[in-house]
Formats: sequence, C-alpha cells, structure tokens
Amino acid sequence: MTLQGKTALVTGGGRGIGKSIAHRLAEAGAHVVIASRKMENLEETAKEFSKLPGKTIPIACHVGRKEQLEYLIQQVEDTLGPVDILVNNSATNIGQGPALEVSDEALLKTAEVNVLAALRLIRLTVPKMIQRGGGSIINIASIAGLRPQPQGLVYSFTKAGLIMMTRVWAIEFGPHNVRVNAICPGLIETDFSEYFWKNPQHVERLQQTQPIPRVGKPDEIGGIALYLASDDSSFVTGQTFIIDGGATAR
Ligand SMILES: NC(=O)c1ccc[n+]([C@@H]2O[C@H](COP(=O)([O-])OP(=O)(O)OC[C@H]3O[C@@H](n4cnc5c(N)ncnc54)[C@H](OP(=O)(O)O)[C@@H]3O)[C@@H](O)[C@H]2O)c1
Repeated sequence: MTLQGKTALVTGGGRGIGKSIAHRLAEAGAHVVIASRKMENLEETAKEFSKLPGKTIPIACHVGRKEQLEYLIQQVEDTLGPVDILVNNSATNIGQGPALEVSDEALLKTAEVNVLAALRLIRLTVPKMIQRGGGSIINIASIAGLRPQPQGLVYSFTKAGLIMMTRVWAIEFGPHNVRVNAICPGLIETDFSEYFWKNPQHVERLQQTQPIPRVGKPDEIGGIALYLASDDSSFVTGQTFIIDGGATAR
C-alpha cells in the first residue's frame, strides 16, 4: 500500500497500457481517476477494479479540449483532492502515412492530444504539487520517439517532443520535489497498435530482431509506472525508461 492517501490521474486509463497502470496504482492504495472520451469503457474498468484498495473513478474527457481538461481537474479536486500522480497516457496516431502526405490538420490534432494535453495538465496540477511539497508525473512516450518510424512522422515527432519536454520539466520542477519521467514502450498488444501486431510480416520481423521475440502485454508496463509513482523512485527524474523487449538494444 505504498500509495495510500495519494490521488492519481491516468488519462486513457480505461483500456490498454493506461488500464494496466491504473490497476497497479489502485492496488497500491491510490485513489485513481481514469479519464478518456468513452464513458462505457471507463465505467466497465472502474467496476472491474472495485475490489482494489484504492477507489477508481471514471470521468469523461477529450484531452485535446482545453476546457474539458480544466473541468476534469476541477472534478478530480472536488472529489479526491489535488493530484499527486499524473500519468499522461492518452494518445492518437492519426496521420500515419508518407511524410509528403502529412496535412497541417493531422499534425496539429495529433500534437494537441499527444503533447499539448500533457502541457495543459501539468500547468493545471503542478502548482498545487509544488505547494504540497512534491508529486510524480509519468509521460507515456514510445520508442517511436527515440528512433524514426517510417510512415509515422507526426506520431514520432510528438513522442520525441514529449521525451524532451519530460527532461525540461524535470529540471524546472526537481527543486520542488516534483519528479517527471517518461516511459517508452515498444510494441504492446493493444487496440492502438493492432495494425502492427496483427500483421504477420511485422511480427515475423520483430521475432527475428527483438531479443525477447514477442509482442509485449499491457501488464508489462504497469510495474515501472508504479515504481515511478512511488517513493521507491524518490531520486529519479528526467529519465526515459524503455520497455521494449530489447528492440532498441541493437
Ligand atoms: N501499444 C503500443 O504498441 C504502444 C507503443 C508505444 C507507446 N504506446 C503509447 O501508450 C499509450 C497508451 O496506448 P495503448 O497502446 O494502451 O492504446 P489503447 O488501448 O488504444 O489506449 C489509448 C487510450 O487513449 C485514449 N484516448 C485516445 N484519444 C483520446 C482523447 N482525444 N482524449 C482522451 N483520451 C483519448 C483512449 O480512450 P478513448 O477512446 O475512450 O478516448 C484509450 O484509453 C499511448 O500514449 C501510446 O502512444 C503504445
């Protein structure tokens, strides 16, 4: 129960990697708000987690909308108090395709959900973390932000941006005991990445090159997030944790 008494917010916490993170945090005693667009999905997850020590509270929110983020934080604070642990996990990957076909709209929309939402949530939560003497922010980036992903210009750009913003935030907030770290998953079996893991050729290539030759599971990401949320990582900030079966080790 290392997170007893803590309030956590996990965007996209209703399924996939976010769900695995929310599970580990609630299991450790934190009260967790899971927020994304589809309420049925969030409610189902909250119901599934109802026996865990920490409460799980679903709140609908499109993270690309500034006023919805403001309303979200207001609701979290009114229900559970200020956020101690913020997990910026929601993302979109619209605009996949050849670089020359990337539209202005695809870049701006993707950046709004994948990067600007994190910036806005940090602006809405960090001042209170500083007042209260600390906090932990975990940004879910991707190995696509560390090495170029062909046909994925916009997605790679946003994830690389998130990794660099993590380091800048860590430097600025470190003296206030607000730690900021990034997690870069490799290919994990979720709805988001089915284009890749349902493609036999892609999986075959992965099996030939990745040291742990399989697609990862969402539950293989929750543990590192729990570590980063807890005081076990009290001397860790500004870092990027790669969980990719060794894909980038070569
Ligand atoms: N799966 C992989 O292979 C992989 C690899 C590297 C990084 N990642 C990263 O891991 C994170 C989680 O993805 P996942 O793989 O777990 O995919 P997922 O299961 O499809 O989850 C994506 C989550 O984001 C939410 N979301 C999407 N657009 C949103 C919006 N506009 N506003 C609020 N929430 C929104 C979705 O909920 P709603 O639909 O209800 O809004 C969903 O809960 C993402 O940041 C992704 O970039 C995934």
